[in-house]
Amino acid sequence: MQLRLSPSMRSITISSSSNGFVDLMKIKVAARHISYRTLFHTILILAFLLPFVFILTALVTLEGVNKCSSFGGWDQGFSAGLMIQGRKLVVMLWQQRLVRDFYKIFNQVSSEEIPDGLKLPDSFSQLVSEMKSNKYNAKDFALILKGMMERSEREIRESKFAELMNKHFAASAIPKGIHCLSLRLTDEYSSNAHARKQLPSPELLPVLSDNSYYHFILATDNILAASVVVTSAIQSSLKPYKIVFHVITDKKTYAGMHSWFALNPVSPAVVEVKGVHQFDWLTRENVPVLEAVENHNGIRNYYHGNHIAGANLSDTTPRTFASKLQARSPKYISLLNHLRIYLPELFPNLDKVVFLDDDVVIQRDLSPLWEIDLGGKVNGAVETCKGDDEWVMSKRLRNYFNFSHPLIAKNLNPDECAWAYGMNVFDLHVWRKTGIRDTYHTWLKELCHYEDVVVGEGELVFSLHNLKSNLTMWKLGTLPPALIAFKGYVHPIDPSWHMLGLGYQNKTNIERLKKAAVIHYNGQSKPWLEIGFEHLRPFWTKYINYSNDFIRNCHILE
Ligand SMILES: *[C@@H]1O[C@H](CO)[C@@H](O)[C@H](O)[C@H]1NC(C)=O
Ligand SMILES: *[C@@H]1O[C@H](CO)[C@@H](O)[C@H](O)[C@H]1NC(C)=O
Ligand SMILES: *[C@@H]1O[C@H](CO)[C@@H](O)[C@H](O)[C@H]1NC(C)=O
Ligand SMILES: *[C@@H]1O[C@H](CO)[C@@H](O)[C@H](O)[C@H]1NC(C)=O
Ligand SMILES: *[C@@H]1O[C@H](CO)[C@@H](O)[C@H](O)[C@H]1NC(C)=O
Repeated sequence: MQLRLSPSMRSITISSSSNGFVDLMKIKVAARHISYRTLFHTILILAFLLPFVFILTALVTLEGVNKCSSFGGWDQGFSAGLMIQGRKLVVMLWQQRLVRDFYKIFNQVSSEEIPDGLKLPDSFSQLVSEMKSNKYNAKDFALILKGMMERSEREIRESKFAELMNKHFAASAIPKGIHCLSLRLTDEYSSNAHARKQLPSPELLPVLSDNSYYHFILATDNILAASVVVTSAIQSSLKPYKIVFHVITDKKTYAGMHSWFALNPVSPAVVEVKGVHQFDWLTRENVPVLEAVENHNGIRNYYHGNHIAGANLSDTTPRTFASKLQARSPKYISLLNHLRIYLPELFPNLDKVVFLDDDVVIQRDLSPLWEIDLGGKVNGAVETCKGDDEWVMSKRLRNYFNFSHPLIAKNLNPDECAWAYGMNVFDLHVWRKTGIRDTYHTWLKELCHYEDVVVGEGELVFSLHNLKSNLTMWKLGTLPPALIAFKGYVHPIDPSWHMLGLGYQNKTNIERLKKAAVIHYNGQSKPWLEIGFEHLRPFWTKYINYSNDFIRNCHILE
């Protein structure tokens, strides 16, 4: 069987040695579930066969009037129908033996490997022009088509993965300006006595445990982000003199963070800066899931290594790859991210606190949060299953857990609404009477044991180290165990308090954004990164003081 296109493309000659028999052939393509094979056939039929069929049909129709049989066996009719039935695409071809042979070849070819030496045209137009000049053997033609389709499919996949990788590194790298800020402020700490002055001043120390103040807790190693959170909270407050900020940072950022708040006082509000090394309670015995992870070599490679090299791209979808990358974000192995579950112990004298993430901006007075009656619950949080934003606000437990797993199916309800970290009102007094921390530890162990339990998605996926586990068991978030640990202890608060999703997508509703009390850049596109969304950035940058020497000298976001 041979295929030839005339140079004018006015005629196609398909020659075959077989005699013409009319066959009825029906191909059904269920569009909902397209495998490579059906895709292959569909594209072939639509892109390549239909033009042939059309031309042949036209010829047959035209010439059928006088039954001119210039095509030999073709006079028995040849037609093609294409209809959309629900989601099914049905292509029917009444055809000659000839075309059936053609299918036989395609079928055979679709299960065959492409020979290594096969020269593929660079584009489909080149293919067409080569078809004009060459007599293709139908089998070579089919092989070339298949090779070209596989190549383009592979290229699309690879570029998708490359894009995800680039985004991942763009999101996990520390921008130069922020790094510079940290270095210079650390340097200032050792050279400038003002940068080392006690925070807060000794006469204000009693305020740190006075429950008539509004206590905010923020844990971060990003000095610029901390300054935006603190500045925005104070500027938006009606009673800034009642605000106390407890900024917790890691050991390496402590000096820089302290310098910043010592040199840029926020009075009348009060700021305390603490390093994790200054909490006596944070020991390995109390916090069994935390090890000195950042110093561990294998872990460093795991989080900072070449993720694409070890990945088997042929059995990975871009979505699972993205979620694996996210779970490997270096920031998620930081001790700072685990602190929130230990707040009652870290602040033994406080009763009600608001815990903020470092990627939020406060736009409204938050003091009414302290008046919300949590009704005996521990955690006042916004729920993430209702709202206009279909993507960010569509998270139920089934989005975080694998309900095919018996452990999960037995204990949880897939339709239960999830809630968000970012801005939470915690009643530490009630919390201390619960077993939330123990539940958290227990489930962490369970979840670490069964790697396939958590499907984790979204920004709150981050990893915890379990002493019994090794690296393969790290794909775990803090939100999933928290979703279980706080079960029955969450009091939903009005969504206008906390608007999520500014780091995920460009489609954020600006009117709602302006009205929200707290806006949250959760997602990869943080406002301090180049990949941040330009039109959302000003809501964050307006709290940066560009006349500050350190900000100026480090060329932050210029
Ligand atoms: C990748 O996965 C596919 C399908 O599971 C398998 O056939 C292939 O051998 C794997 N490749 C590597 C390099 O592990
Ligand atoms: C969900 O759990 C089932 C049963 O343990 C397991 O076979 C499956 O691979 C899991 N799915 C994912 C996405 O981990
Ligand atoms: C990780 O766990 C697996 C299975 O429990 C074990 O075979 C493997 O040796 C462990 N790897 C390391 C580095 O401990
Ligand atoms: C985001 O949306 C704004 C306005 O709708 C548009 O100007 C901008 O180009 C978009 N940016 C991206 C990265 O899509
Ligand atoms: C901004 O920084 C300058 C220089 O440090 C300082 O004088 C000024 O008060 C700051 N402005 C605000 C609003 O904090």
